[in-house]
Amino acid sequence: MKTITCIEDLRQQARRKVPRAFFDYVEAGSYAQQTLQANRADLERIKLRQRVMVDVAARDVSTTMLGQRVSFPLALGPVGMTGLQRGNGEILAARAALTAGIPYTLSTISICSIEDVARATGAPFWFQLYVMKDRGFVRDLIERAAAAQCSALMLTVDLPILGQRHCDLKNGLAVPPSLKFRNLVSMSGRPRWCAGVLAGKRWSFGNLEGYVSGKSGAQSLAQWVGSQFDATLNWKDVEWVRSIWRGPLIIKGILDPDDAKLAAQTGASALVVSNHGGRQLDGAPSSISMLPKIADAVGSATEVFFDGGIRSGQDMLRALALGAKACLIGRAYVYGVGAAGESGVAKAIEILRRELDTSMALTGCKTIDDIGPHTLCRSFED
Ligand SMILES: Cc1cc2nc3c(=O)[nH]c(=O)nc-3n(C[C@H](O)[C@H](O)[C@H](O)COP(=O)(O)O)c2cc1C
Repeated sequence: MKTITCIEDLRQQARRKVPRAFFDYVEAGSYAQQTLQANRADLERIKLRQRVMVDVAARDVSTTMLGQRVSFPLALGPVGMTGLQRGNGEILAARAALTAGIPYTLSTISICSIEDVARATGAPFWFQLYVMKDRGFVRDLIERAAAAQCSALMLTVDLPILGQRHCDLKNGLAVPPSLKFRNLVSMSGRPRWCAGVLAGKRWSFGNLEGYVSGKSGAQSLAQWVGSQFDATLNWKDVEWVRSIWRGPLIIKGILDPDDAKLAAQTGASALVVSNHGGRQLDGAPSSISMLPKIADAVGSATEVFFDGGIRSGQDMLRALALGAKACLIGRAYVYGVGAAGESGVAKAIEILRRELDTSMALTGCKTIDDIGPHTLCRSFED
């Protein structure tokens, strides 16, 4: 097996092992994918400032997120249907995060349920919430997350309706899904994937099973999810969520300083600067280009997390230098799930940790607090 040295190696392995429709689902952005591409292109433009002759022998990449110690400033973000990259994918990712000492976020539209992950890990994780039309269902979800000892609730606010991904429609992965002949061919060519998924706990949206009365199986649940995204979502709903959820709240999907101020006013513990990995509003700016303005707009009471395009520890350093307290990743760890399950995710995390550590040393930083705008060659706006 090829030696894995970077996230791209994991991506290549995942591409070979995961059936085409599910790999494309991870890769894609919405519409013309301009925002997806901007996330990477704008990160790559930021130059790190090389510093020399600084004693960097004793380095510490640990820090805190929401007041809890983390081994380095990273969390695994919510990724729907991770359990279709590999059987029990959510459990595998949660275990790798736990071992690495960083948070894992379970998506509302995961394959393994809240209870599956809680039972398998026996440790707190974060739960990501979509507020759907059926508020009784949403209340239940929040209460289930609390009962499972989830340590934070991440409310995603950038999906009142679903952006279109062309490949998902072409692959029959839309809502409702339809299995195309070429999907079956692609699956039959990946017997280990099939065996793993068939042996997994579930093949459909675990958090929804049994809830949608009279419905079971992927198609009807997917139909229900598709019809449930709520276009009326507004800031008042955050008050309602807070009346049920007593723990730390993270608001995810902020891309504008004015929205960042409103998010901070809700009393949320943190917000995530994010454009949903370029999967929602195509034509929106890259996450990294909006990060400095958003970090400036919110006070110190709200932690600013960042996601969108992170594929290396150098990318993490760029975001930390521009005001992020910590980073989230989506695709970078999901490639690990597809490539090698728990050890693939562990590898992805370790790659990012080592790259961050090395890049900190070469920019003269010994601790996460040493990182700042001075770590970059010049400000992003120049
Ligand atoms: C396949 C896929 C599924 C996703 N599902 C969710 C989801 O269920 N809930 C959510 O809040 N964000 C979801 N996201 C967005 C991620 O949490 C994150 O914002 C994004 O992936 C960050 O960009 P990156 O993939 O370049 O790291 C998803 C992203 C991908 C790639």
